[in-house]
Amino acid sequence: MAKLIIMALAFLVCAASRGRCEEGGTSPLQVGFYDGKCADVDVEAAVGAVVASFYDRDPTVAAALLRLQFHDCFIHGCDASILLDGPDSEKTSPANRRVRGYDLIEAAKSSVEAVCPGVVSCADIIVMATRDAVSLGGGGRYTVQTGRRDGTISFASDVNMPASSISVSDSIKVFGEKGLSPTDMVYLLGGHTIGVARCSTFQDRLYNFQNTGEPDPTMDSTLRDTLLARCPQDSDSDENTVDLDQNASSSSTVDNSYYQQILSNRGILQIDQELALDQWTRPTVDAIAQGLDFNMGFGQAMIKLGAVQVLTGEQGEVRQFCNRNN
Ligand code: HEM
Repeated sequence: MAKLIIMALAFLVCAASRGRCEEGGTSPLQVGFYDGKCADVDVEAAVGAVVASFYDRDPTVAAALLRLQFHDCFIHGCDASILLDGPDSEKTSPANRRVRGYDLIEAAKSSVEAVCPGVVSCADIIVMATRDAVSLGGGGRYTVQTGRRDGTISFASDVNMPASSISVSDSIKVFGEKGLSPTDMVYLLGGHTIGVARCSTFQDRLYNFQNTGEPDPTMDSTLRDTLLARCPQDSDSDENTVDLDQNASSSSTVDNSYYQQILSNRGILQIDQELALDQWTRPTVDAIAQGLDFNMGFGQAMIKLGAVQVLTGEQGEVRQFCNRNN
């Protein structure tokens, strides 16, 4: 009876939000949605095997997938709209130009389609694969919810991702619009514990911070010297990259060292650094850096990210191929 009441409430909330369901307790997603829907095939294990084989060859797929999920969920919700090909689809927008991991998702999809056709959505595959990659990268293994359906709409003009120069307060607003709290935001930015950024995404901090003609005074001077060598002012700043987590021994590991680095003024992106300087986010940054369970908090925040504006039930479709509508 209690379950029925919860389901009815979830339905009403989804209906009130024009068919798209927000994160949180009312999400109609569920753990183990595919159990029993593919005979005896373990869908999550099938996806996990593909992720493991990609990760073995190239561990940077973990960073690729984390960013892919973030960029999928922030535009039209977690509906795999980022995967659709087309002359003007989300994938083609400048903000998504360096997003990677499409080949892995496609490989996981064909592996699953081969044993259980037409059942498992691409939106769910993104979320399952990202969870597996985070776990392989040293983060905890969180339990994913599934049951998403794939969207059919994907326009580059709809892509409005936060810029690296966004302020903490504006970022809190943007995450809040997706139903994510400031604490979720601090944990999710911990995604920058792995992966790289091109010089062009932070070069202003080295040479002309906020049009002052000076470097960002908050940046650690040793870090600045290293970055100046890596990102010369007149070079083509689109090709060189630097690790987002400047702790060389853990720049490929999902852990809390990103927070320790930003507390030492060694953040790469402006938003990374400001997270440690802002009075609202600093206490959470301090706590995580000092050992508050990052893996658990990050996993919970990823679960919430994965529930943003999902399509479920009869909404959308289950794509046959992730890069095109049926
Ligand atoms: C205000 C929020 C955020 C901003 C402004 C931001 C910005 C950026 C920028 C500028 C880059 C470098 C891209 C490039 O060089 O082309 C980047 C990389 C990355 N971001 Fe974020 N990001 C944000 C939030 C997140 C979140 C929530 C996650 C995941 C949970 C995430 C995961 C990553 C990862 C893993 C990379 C490295 C990708 C790779 O190595 O291929 N970011 N981000």
